[in-house]
Amino acid sequence: MQHVRIDTHRSSADTDEQLRRDVREGLSAERKRLPAKWFYDARGSELFDRITALPEYYPTRAEREILVRESQAIAAATDARTLVELGAGSSEKTRALLDGLRRHGTVREFVPQDVSASALTAAAEAIAADYPGLDVHGVVGDFTENLGVLPGTRPRLVVFLGGTIGNFLPAERAKFLRSVRDVLAPGEWLLLGTDLVKDPRTLVRAYDDEAGVTAEFNRNVLAVLAERLGADVDPADFDHVAAWDAEHEWIEMRLRARRDLVVRIPGADLEVSFAAGEEVRTEVSAKFREDGVRTELADAGFALEHWWTDAEARFGVSLAKAT
Ligand code: SAH
Ligand code: AVI
Repeated sequence: MQHVRIDTHRSSADTDEQLRRDVREGLSAERKRLPAKWFYDARGSELFDRITALPEYYPTRAEREILVRESQAIAAATDARTLVELGAGSSEKTRALLDGLRRHGTVREFVPQDVSASALTAAAEAIAADYPGLDVHGVVGDFTENLGVLPGTRPRLVVFLGGTIGNFLPAERAKFLRSVRDVLAPGEWLLLGTDLVKDPRTLVRAYDDEAGVTAEFNRNVLAVLAERLGADVDPADFDHVAAWDAEHEWIEMRLRARRDLVVRIPGADLEVSFAAGEEVRTEVSAKFREDGVRTELADAGFALEHWWTDAEARFGVSLAKAT
């Protein structure tokens, strides 16, 4: 029998209110911006899954290589009873961890969490079907809130994969790591995936693929504004931009207006003007170095116990213990 249950921690009314706030704040700013989490409606989650299979987008393959290679070591180090995954998406790579933990014999429960209800439900059901006897308890929610209400018996291993930590700005990142630490007891675990600094050409290509899937993903945030807030925006009026910021060591994704435009967003009670060439920052994707990760983890109350990279040192996975 399948043990799968999904809880929703935010109602759509709450999130509409949050979207409205983010849009008003971000698009009224002098340098326009939108938070990356609004990419992920059902279509955005599907587009992200397509990105993970693109030849240019190496992070998913590199991280999978590490997880497959080290799953046994992770299981042995943590003895995890509950695997909690934040920003889980399809949980495709997480299967490598579940396999290692199952072989080790400790894991009883899997708690995937994501803001995208469609991605989360599909993943939770597929994993429950493929791992008989595992309790799967999905949570639709925002990983910047509500972590204290995540279920699970100890010891827990919280995983945050894909390099999604890079989608925070540095101050938000510190706050997030601290909030994860706050819900753990000393001795519990965090497994963190971080994309690494490398040559800018490889980085930019990963965010500006030949087939244009990332461009479509980027423009999807406009479709979300149209659908949820009635924005009269034509995604074709915006170009996809991916740029390396060497000072901050992050990729920025932006949408650049192709002409002078006025966009009405009745659901946010807002009218936004764009000059031709003006940009909205839609995502930062920070890239990391081992020392920086170690320091940020320590600042949040974690001791880095293992640091693994793929054979080409493109991506890093850290196993850290709450101190
Ligand atoms: N962990 C998966 C998916 C990464 S894509 C992987 O490694 O491939 C980023 C995921 O984070 C998406 O599924 C998206 O819906 C989710 N997400 C983005 N912002 C979020 C937030 N604030 N709270 C919860 N989930 C979020
Ligand atoms: C989810 N996150 C880690 C992805 C990234 O690489 O920053 C999102 C993404 N944006 C463009 N392509 C993929």
